[in-house]
This record gives sequence, C-alpha cells and structure tokens, in this order.
Amino acid sequence: MRGTGAGRQRVKTARKRSAQSTRWLARQLNDPYVHRARAEGYRSRAAFKLIELDERFGLLKGVRRVVDLGIAPGGWSQVVRRQAPAAAIVGIDLLPVDPIDGVTIFEMDFMADEAPGVLMEALGGAPDLVMSDMAANTVGHPQTDALRTMALVETALAFAIDVLRPGGTFVSKVFAGGADAALVAEMKRNFTTVKHAKPPSSRKGSVEWFVVAQGFKGRTEVAVD
Ligand SMILES: C[S@@+](CC[C@H](N)C(=O)[O-])C[C@H]1O[C@@H](n2cnc3c(N)ncnc32)[C@H](O)[C@@H]1O
Repeated sequence: MRGTGAGRQRVKTARKRSAQSTRWLARQLNDPYVHRARAEGYRSRAAFKLIELDERFGLLKGVRRVVDLGIAPGGWSQVVRRQAPAAAIVGIDLLPVDPIDGVTIFEMDFMADEAPGVLMEALGGAPDLVMSDMAANTVGHPQTDALRTMALVETALAFAIDVLRPGGTFVSKVFAGGADAALVAEMKRNFTTVKHAKPPSSRKGSVEWFVVAQGFKGRTEVAVD
C-alpha cells in the first residue's frame, strides 16, 4: 500500500485477496467517515448516519428510553449516549457487542418470539425512540435480499407500534428506495409524519435509505366482548 499524489491510498492486490475485498479495503482506506469515526471514537461509520438523521429530524432531542435493533458494533448507541447521556438504552444483535457504558445489550435474534419481552423488561418502560439499522445478510439474489430486509422492517415497525410512548419516533433502514406502499400506509396510520431520507454518509452507490416516522399516535384499544 502506498500514498498517491492526491493523498488517496492505493491498495496493492495481494495474490490471495479477491478483487472484491481489494475494492472494499481501498474504499475503507479512502472513506472520510471511516477516518472520522476512528478520530471521534465511534465504533462504526454508521454512527454518522444517525448523527445526520438527528440533525435533520431532531430524533434524539429529550429521549429518555431508546431501543437499538441491530446494535453491533455499537455506533448508534454511542451517539445516543453522547446526545442523551441520561437515556436508558437497550440493544439487540445476532453478533456479540463489546460493552457500552449504560447500554444493556442482548446477543439474540430480534425475530425470536421472546425478543420483544426481553427488550422491554430491560428497558423498564415505554421507549420514545425505536431505531433499527438491521440488515439481513445478503445472499446475492436482489429479490430475496429485499424481502428478507423488508421482513425485518415490518417486524421492527410492529414492535414499535406495540411499545412506543405516544409522540414517539420509529426510524429504520430500508432498501430499494424506501419502504413499500403497504408499510408506508401502516406508518401513516400510526404516525403524524413519515419521511424517507438518505443521509450524506450513506454511500451513494448503496440502495440503503432510512424511513423516519415521528409523532406516534398511540395505540387504539380494541374492545373485546
Ligand atoms: C449495519 S449493522 C448495524 C450498525 C450499527 N447501527 C452501528 O452503528 O454500529 C446491522 C446489524 O443488524 C444485525 N441484524 C441483522 N438481522 C438481525 C436480527 N434478526 N436480529 C438482530 N440483529 C440483526 C446484524 O447482525 C448487524 O450487526
């Protein structure tokens, strides 16, 4: 590896390194957000997506209880801790996560039946913010990948509607330009405003977007005979 005149780093193709991983490494080395994350003590460049969404939508203002779905390696929760130091935070991920001061972390599948109960018991009250950066492991088949990610978004939304405090916020990563029409309709039924956003730190070439639903209207109790 050596520097070029423009200050960019070029990556030599090692014999055993695939072209794809060489491209990934070159992108990491030349990505200003990767450098910023390291300099500012964030565990992931993903932290900047939440910072930018917060700047635009004020997601973290006054939050007291937060759920972080797909927390690993922990960038989003670090951002919440810095912006709202007194907030209680619970996170869940399939992967292990190094401890973060003041954050309760579960290594568990969010799609497991017991996950919502475990999260809510640890949080000790209704959250003001449910945020999901979950992405399904891609299998390389675009339709399958989109469906698997959409299932995660649907489950995260159903959870948010079940547990949020009135006035609360749901933010989720979505793919392929946004949530599908049925999902947006469900969000609009339950939230005052629903917007899609692609923060500047989200890579231009990626199909990743975020949906931000604010002003949870509250649960309507259904009368049972
Ligand atoms: C893009 S990363 C999250 C990055 C994180 N927001 C940060 O700032 O560090 C997506 C995470 O979602 C997790 N994930 C995907 N499916 C999940 C599931 N069913 N249950 C829990 N976590 C899941 C993955 O393991 C992965 O760690």
